[in-house]
Amino acid sequence: MQPDDDICYCYHVSMRKLVNFARRVRPVQASRMTECLGAGTGCGWCIPFLTRIARDPDRIGALELTPEQYAESRKNYIKTQPRNTFDETPKSGNAETPKPPS
Ligand code: FES
Repeated sequence: MQPDDDICYCYHVSMRKLVNFARRVRPVQASRMTECLGAGTGCGWCIPFLTRIARDPDRIGALELTPEQYAESRKNYIKTQPRNTFDETPKSGNAETPKPPS
């Protein structure tokens, strides 16, 4: 995935916008990433990625997923429960959720 690809599909927020927001704000709590155009306040799919970006926006390189793989993984996530939250840990049961970049 590239910087202009959406990380939050619900609100169409790109990686570039999220990284720039995190560099500017330096959020102590990952949930502050929601202040970037509402990212993470819809289905919750992107929350693990938002958390990773919030923790270290300067080392977030491109995701090692294609946009198609990312979209397909989200499609599978939408069919499962429970949903991701900002408690810093993706819920179990979302085995299809790809790992954020390290
Ligand atoms: S993809 Fe970000 S909240 Fe749904």
